[in-house]
Amino acid sequence: MIQKTSIVIFGASGDLTWRKLIPALYNNFKKGRLDECANIVGFARRDWDDNFFRTRLREGVEKFSADTFDEKIWEDFATRLRYFRGNLDQSNDFSKLHTFLHELESTHVFANPERTFGVKQSPAKRAETASQKDARRVNSANRLYYLATAPSFYAPVTGFLGDANMAKENKSAGTWRRIIIEKPFGRDLESAQELNRAVHAAFDERQVYRIDHYLGKETSQNILFFRFANTIFEPLWNRGYINNVQISVAESVDVGDRAGYYDKSGVLRDMVQNHLFQLLALVAMEAPASFDADAVRNEKAKVFQSIRPIDLNDTVRAQYEGYAQAKGVAPNSQTPTYAAFKLFIDNWRWQGVPFYLRSGKALKHKNTEIIIEFQRPPHLMFDLPEGRDITPNVLSICIQPDEGIQLRFEAKVPDSDQEMRSVNMDFAYEDFFDGASIPEAYERLLLEALDGDASLFTRSDEIEASWKVIDPVINGWAERAQPKLATHKKGEWGPKESTDLLARDGHQWRFGCVEHRIN
Ligand code: BG6
Repeated sequence: MIQKTSIVIFGASGDLTWRKLIPALYNNFKKGRLDECANIVGFARRDWDDNFFRTRLREGVEKFSADTFDEKIWEDFATRLRYFRGNLDQSNDFSKLHTFLHELESTHVFANPERTFGVKQSPAKRAETASQKDARRVNSANRLYYLATAPSFYAPVTGFLGDANMAKENKSAGTWRRIIIEKPFGRDLESAQELNRAVHAAFDERQVYRIDHYLGKETSQNILFFRFANTIFEPLWNRGYINNVQISVAESVDVGDRAGYYDKSGVLRDMVQNHLFQLLALVAMEAPASFDADAVRNEKAKVFQSIRPIDLNDTVRAQYEGYAQAKGVAPNSQTPTYAAFKLFIDNWRWQGVPFYLRSGKALKHKNTEIIIEFQRPPHLMFDLPEGRDITPNVLSICIQPDEGIQLRFEAKVPDSDQEMRSVNMDFAYEDFFDGASIPEAYERLLLEALDGDASLFTRSDEIEASWKVIDPVINGWAERAQPKLATHKKGEWGPKESTDLLARDGHQWRFGCVEHRIN
């Protein structure tokens, strides 16, 4: 029996649906990976209908899908798109949605395999009461709910779904209910715990898929393959050989028209607690015994639980010039758009190895990169010219935009006596895999949720443990007003204080695959 699936997107008139979710679903459909998906229902308040909804989504796909638009495929895909007008704060609208979905799922030829068109129903079936019919129809299809709403709706919507009996799975029919929840998941530990409790009142943890789109990026997924499908690097992946680790997520865009949200969040909530910390976990975790979701997430959670409380003296916060004048930003706003800091992971593998993290908006270039800087040779037998030093080996994992991996090492300059220069071994995605384009993170994540594989989603304990690390920094900055909020010009790499943070330890921010872009 083929089990059909309905996807329900709450917040369907918003930007995320238009820009990311529907293009990702369309691309998956085009690749033949969404056959079981009978209905994609958009739930929102605006007075739209199916036609308007489809027309708008089509524009989004034409604009934002990396693949070429195919008219015929779109037409087939669009038949699955339905619009349901409802209010996120009206429980009654969820009951109506439930009925609407029942109708869709039971009229769809695949959704209810018991229904045979053109064949008369048996007298017993005809005699069913309405509620018996309802019970039989319940869960005749799988459902994936997607919370693409403002975060303040996450708790009420999960509550309404629970109340309307829409979260319950039918074990005998083998149909499932899953929910994807967008970031931000809470704004501190307390609110994250509260939200976890609210979600768990309706859904079991195994039904919950908290999204962090950085985990869906092809190059982030490759970190575990690079580390654990090869043998040459892992023996070196520890305090014995690694001097320091640097994780940079630099954005060239400024806050744009998102200031209303951003000014209440700042870089630590918007980027660090989630995206940077997930990258940190992938780099620092132990090898899980399998690729099973919980095996992977157990190891990631242990990383967050092992982070030593961050010393405020090891943090830098800054704002790009002009931020406070942007529309929607409070005058005299102290919201940092840039952060850099040092942390330590207190376990055997990483004892004493500094991890430097930084992220900011309105920086010189977009660049997400992980740098592994190895130890210097214990003894140097070569005569270096006065004032010259060697560059340590640097492994650079480029998450975006120049996706690839680069290893820098020293080589003898030809026809010289003992002169050395740093050279690179380079792997660029575009040179391999027959030039196949790198899919959008949401494509993979939606497929994984449909497949029931949560390894690329964050678990409740990971979220709470990461807030436990970040909260004291946010609160410390607010209460002690220390360190002072620095500023930097738009288009720079950040404030001087950030360079100083590493210089104090005799280090510097390094660029690997993107070095050609930095000057
Ligand atoms: C989002 C943040 O989660 O990630 C944005 O809210 C940020 O502020 C974005 O711009 C960056 O994502 P990407 O995929 O462009 O690096």
